[in-house]
Amino acid sequence: MNEQQRKEMNQIKDNPADKKSVEDKPLSEKTSEDFAKYFESTYQPPSLKSAKKRGKEDVNVHYDFEIPEDIQGIGEGKKFLIRTYGCQMNEHDTEVMAGILSEMGYESTTDQHEADIILLNTCAIRENAENKVFGEIGHLKALKREKPDLILGVCGCMSQEESVVNRILQKHQFVDLIFGTHNIHRLPQLVQEAIFGKEMVVEVWSKEGDIVENLPRQRKGNIKAWVNIMYGCDKFCTYCIVPYTRGKERSRLPEDIIQEVRQLAAQGYKEVTLLGQNVNAYGKDFEDRTFGLGDLMNEIHKIDIPRVRFTTSHPRDFDDRLIEVLAQGGNLLDHIHLPVQSGSSEVLKIMARKYTRERYLELVDKIREAMPNATLTTDIIVGFPNETEEQFQETLSLVEEVGFEGAYTFIYSPREGTPAAKMQDNVPMDVKKERLQRLNAVVNHQAAQAMKKYEGEIVEVLVEGESKKNADVLAGHTHRNKLVNFRAPRSTIGEIVKVKITNAKTWSLDGELLETAEVK
Ligand code: 5AD
Ligand code: SF4
Repeated sequence: MNEQQRKEMNQIKDNPADKKSVEDKPLSEKTSEDFAKYFESTYQPPSLKSAKKRGKEDVNVHYDFEIPEDIQGIGEGKKFLIRTYGCQMNEHDTEVMAGILSEMGYESTTDQHEADIILLNTCAIRENAENKVFGEIGHLKALKREKPDLILGVCGCMSQEESVVNRILQKHQFVDLIFGTHNIHRLPQLVQEAIFGKEMVVEVWSKEGDIVENLPRQRKGNIKAWVNIMYGCDKFCTYCIVPYTRGKERSRLPEDIIQEVRQLAAQGYKEVTLLGQNVNAYGKDFEDRTFGLGDLMNEIHKIDIPRVRFTTSHPRDFDDRLIEVLAQGGNLLDHIHLPVQSGSSEVLKIMARKYTRERYLELVDKIREAMPNATLTTDIIVGFPNETEEQFQETLSLVEEVGFEGAYTFIYSPREGTPAAKMQDNVPMDVKKERLQRLNAVVNHQAAQAMKKYEGEIVEVLVEGESKKNADVLAGHTHRNKLVNFRAPRSTIGEIVKVKITNAKTWSLDGELLETAEVK
C-alpha cells in the first residue's frame, strides 16, 4: 500500500460510511469460508515453509473490527483465564484477547476451576518453553474431564508450528481450539465455533494477514502500558523461529501509534513500552515515506507521558537518527536493550546477524558518546552449533568490554524448520551448560558492580505496586531500569518519587522514600 492509499484508509477511519467502498464486507461479517478462500484452501495445517515466504502483497489496515451481534452476549455469566508464556509481545496479545473476551461478556478470573474458557498463549522460542506448555496441557486434561463444557484453547507462537498442531491433533484431542498469532481478531467466531461445534476448531494462518487497528484491550494495570509499533520480523537469524511464527515486518502507521500513546497519557498512564520483534526496522515497509524509529520516538518525545521505553533492538538497523533523538533524554529513558547474541564475528556470521563484533562495539561507542548515562543490557546465546572455546571466550571478553549491566543468557535450542537446526553440532550439552554458568558468573558480577554505584544516591522511581516478596514493601524502576524496593504509603503507587538507595543487591536496590518525594 502506498502513502496515498494509507492516507485514504485513514480518512475512511473517520468516515464509517465509506468503509464498504474499500472492504466489500466488514471483518465481523466475514466467515471462516471467506477467510479460507482468501488463503486459497479450506483447512490447511500451518506450514513453516509457506510462513517463510515473504510476499509482495499489500498489508491493509482495518478499523472496522466489531463483535457480530449474535456473539455479543455469548460470555454473559461466564469467566475466562489466559495463561501467557514468553515475551512482552505475547503479554500484549493476551491483553487484546482479554479485551475481546470481555466485550463478548466474559469476566476474567485467576482460578482455573472457575473458568469456562482457558487459553494458553504460547511461546516457541526455545524447547523448554514448549515443554512447559505441553506439561500444562497435560494437567488441564483432568479439569476438562471434570468440566466437559470448558473450552480449552491453544494460541500464540507454538500454534504456528505444524509439528505442534499435529501433536495436539494426535495426542491431546480434548483441546477444543487452536488458533495462531495472525488471526486473534477472529477470536469471537472461533470461540462460538468451539462452543457449538463438535470437532476441534483449528484455524492457523501460515501467512500474516492485515493490521487490525481497533481491537479492544484489557490492559494489565493502569501505570505501565505496552504499545505495538510493528509486527513480525524479516531478519531470519538462523537459530530463530520468530520470523516464521510472526510473519513479515508490518509497521503500524505513526498516526495510529501516536494517537494510542496520547490516549494512554490522557488516561494517566506513566510509562509506555513500544514493542516490536525488531523495532529498529520500524517504517522500512512504508513505500512512499521515509519515517523510521528515530522519527517516531521524536514525535512521542513531545507527548506528555513521563516515561517511554522500547524493545527489542537489532544492532544492524540501529541508526544515527535514533541515537540523536534518544540523546534528547526527557521522557526517553536511559536504557537500551541491545541483543548481541555472540562476541565472535565468526559465530555472528553463521547466525546471520549481519554485523561483526567490531561493528557492534562501534555502535556501543556511539551510543555511549551520545547517552553517557545509558544502561546497556543484552541477550546472549551460548553453545551455538560448533561454537569453540575461543569463540565463547570472545563472548566473555565482549561482555566485559561493553560492561553490560544485565543480560538474558540462553543455551542454544534447535528450532525445527530453522537453518541452524540442520547444522551438525559438535558441542556436548555439558560443555554448553558449563559455558552458560561461566557467562552468568561474569554477567552477575557486572550487574552487582553496577548496582553498588547507586549506594547513597538519590534516584527517581516510578512506584509500580507491591514488591514480589513482601506486600508491605513497594517496588518500582528507575530511569535506567533498576528495580528498587522501599517502604512508602500505598498512595504513592503510580507516582514518580525520590528514593535514597541504602543497599545494593545483584538485581535490585533497597531504598528509603524521601519525605518531599513526589516528582510529578
Ligand atoms: N535458542 C536459544 N535462544 C534463542 N533466542 C532466540 N532463538 C533462540 C534459540 N533457538 C534468544 C535470543 C533472542 C531472545 C529473545 O531469545 O537471544 O534475542
Ligand atoms: Fe529472531 Fe533475529 Fe528476528 Fe530477533 S531479529 S526476532 S533473534 S530473527
